[in-house]
Amino acid sequence: MLLDDLRKDPLAYSPGVYVHIPFCAAVCSYCAFSVEVFRNGSSSAYIEALTQELRSRLSEIDSNVKSLYIGGGTPSILEPSELYKVVEVLHGTQLVEFTLEANPESITKAKLKSYKEMGVSRISLGVQSFDDKVLKFFGRSHSVLQAIEAIDAVAEFGLELSLDIIYGSGAEDEGSFDLTVSALREVADRLDHVSCYALTLEPRTRLHHRYRHTLVKDQVVKDEDVLASRYYRLDEELLELGFYNYEISNWAKADKECRHNMNYWLRGEYLGVGSSAHSFIGSVRAANEFSPKRYVETIYNVGSAITSMEHLSSEQERIEKILLGIRCSVGVERSIAGEIPSSLEALVEETDGFFTLTRDGRMLADMVALKLISNK
Ligand SMILES: C[S@@+](CC[C@H](N)C(=O)[O-])C[C@H]1O[C@@H](n2cnc3c(N)ncnc32)[C@H](O)[C@@H]1O
Ligand code: SF4
Repeated sequence: MLLDDLRKDPLAYSPGVYVHIPFCAAVCSYCAFSVEVFRNGSSSAYIEALTQELRSRLSEIDSNVKSLYIGGGTPSILEPSELYKVVEVLHGTQLVEFTLEANPESITKAKLKSYKEMGVSRISLGVQSFDDKVLKFFGRSHSVLQAIEAIDAVAEFGLELSLDIIYGSGAEDEGSFDLTVSALREVADRLDHVSCYALTLEPRTRLHHRYRHTLVKDQVVKDEDVLASRYYRLDEELLELGFYNYEISNWAKADKECRHNMNYWLRGEYLGVGSSAHSFIGSVRAANEFSPKRYVETIYNVGSAITSMEHLSSEQERIEKILLGIRCSVGVERSIAGEIPSSLEALVEETDGFFTLTRDGRMLADMVALKLISNK
């Protein structure tokens, strides 16, 4: 079982490589990631900078790279030949997992064929909702029908498939949420993994702007009680469909957990290239230039796009172990967090010397982590 193995060896999937592709068909109303609207020809300078950065920094990590994650943005908007220029840099590496993020409007059978040929093992598909009304509110560039067609196409090519869902938007009434839950039930046999995120209102997004003008919060994002009840319903349904929750927002079928993300949460090493990408190598956390345009400029002019670096102290490492570990079903070792305070008894449980969250505890993860941090 993966989790038992990871308790014994938390660094089993270290190191990983993350590649950021910032291009999208349109920018969604809730999204604050490093993205820009894709125009023909706008990606070549970026891809050139990306391969340059990857080539020059690869020696910073162990050459035995375990996972590659191409995320964004919308990597599937590019021609596979452009993505291959980046993948080629890792030629010869025996990857355990290779994930590519894709959106329903830009994934095609021809692209899926090329992804398979270049070694992609897993597609993470952003469907967000199975109600067209909600997709419109999000400013998504696809319909529910296109999402279902994309799911079927990925299944046909035999690639592992994960879906991203966002719940709790102002446009999502009980009927819309039911549509999403029943669609998940219908496609469950074609899925290996599901990520479900409560909508967060991020600064500098269209939704945030709308909230500041109307000040009617539940037209934008539902209140805490609705979010909690939707989370519990998703958890119950996914459990019934054969998925288990292995991180607060992530459910997988047995042995289909995302190795690349597990490595983040268990604090293994990773190299991140591209705009906004983060790296964690030898106790140092580093972040790249956020803007895609400035990223390309600084790679060309300076040779590096790192804008901040932080060397973690041993106390900061302990804090991170608790903050990240408590969110996963791997948990936090008792030796790191001390005894469970009596006030947390309903929220935290202990198995084999590891603390994990109960179902109610998952709703209060940050508060639990803060209490465990100040426990010693
Ligand atoms: C950065 S996106 C990239 C994936 C892909 N471009 C897509 O949109 O389907 C990764 C995931 O983060 C989630 N996400 C982004 N912004 C969010 C927000 N404000 N609240 C909740 N989830 C969010 C979405 O589920 C999205 O699929
Ligand atoms: S959610 Fe995905 S598709 Fe939408 S803007 Fe963000 S990265 Fe692009």
